[in-house]
Amino acid sequence: MREEQNILVGRVAIVTGAGRGIGRAISEKLVESGARVVASDINLANAEETAQILNVHRQTSIACRVDVTSVESLESMIAEAEEKLGHVDILVNNAGIMFRTRVLDISAEEWEKTLQVNITGPFLCTQAVLPGMKERKFGRIINISSSAGRSVSTLGGAHYTASKAGLLGLTRAVAKEVASFGITVNAICPGLIDTEMARKTTSEKELQDFLDSFPIRRIGTPEEVGDLVVFLCSDKASYITGASLDINGGDLMI
Ligand SMILES: NC(=O)c1ccc[n+]([C@@H]2O[C@H](COP(=O)([O-])OP(=O)(O)OC[C@H]3O[C@@H](n4cnc5c(N)ncnc54)[C@H](O)[C@@H]3O)[C@@H](O)[C@H]2O)c1
Repeated sequence: MREEQNILVGRVAIVTGAGRGIGRAISEKLVESGARVVASDINLANAEETAQILNVHRQTSIACRVDVTSVESLESMIAEAEEKLGHVDILVNNAGIMFRTRVLDISAEEWEKTLQVNITGPFLCTQAVLPGMKERKFGRIINISSSAGRSVSTLGGAHYTASKAGLLGLTRAVAKEVASFGITVNAICPGLIDTEMARKTTSEKELQDFLDSFPIRRIGTPEEVGDLVVFLCSDKASYITGASLDINGGDLMI
């Protein structure tokens, strides 16, 4: 095994929304790099499928049903993670939802749900893992925001953009508070990535038009996001905190 493939040996990671898409690819990349992973998702069957993939070569991972908006569910996930895999070193706040509703048509319920999952969820997950990370003086928290958070969403509505922008603020505020404990907190801002979320909300024609407009004329892959997560978890990234890293084929350049 090459040296880079071992960079996360001994680390335990929680990935939310790991049942499919970007969360599944992040989990696979973390395991390839030596970490053990709690593949958590509100959809247990999908989380179990991810864990099965992760455990093909060796037993590294567990599946867990979690709703990131429920403190109770998060507490039981942490307890299970610690019992079965060990202390949590890495948290990837990836679970998210997106609606395309235009601003005048967004109901109070849809607004609330989007903010609950996309920003309250990462906040609650962060609160759940921080005490242990502070005690052990090591931690990596990675928030999956979006280009939407840096600018405005190409697909999602105002609630999606607001939640992803808010997540960048949460990233900076927590990063500043916990830096002295050896904990880094960063955000990744993907552009269009090839997942069910993107495919289900875009027509083929619309997708092609987007791709034609990107400087790198293709859609991003979940694995490319996973590689960036691994880098941010590694010792090579120990001086990076409070950052928002773009991965978007040049679609957005700030
Ligand atoms: N695909 C893209 O183009 C793109 C671009 C930018 C950012 N993102 C962000 O990346 C993340 C992953 O996106 P994806 O495309 O893989 O989406 P996806 O819809 O394919 O996967 C999201 C996962 O989150 C889970 N989830 C939803 N609500 C949950 C909850 N309350 N608790 C726990 N799990 C929950 C879902 O069950 C699903 O498995 C999201 O935060 C999304 O906003 C995606």
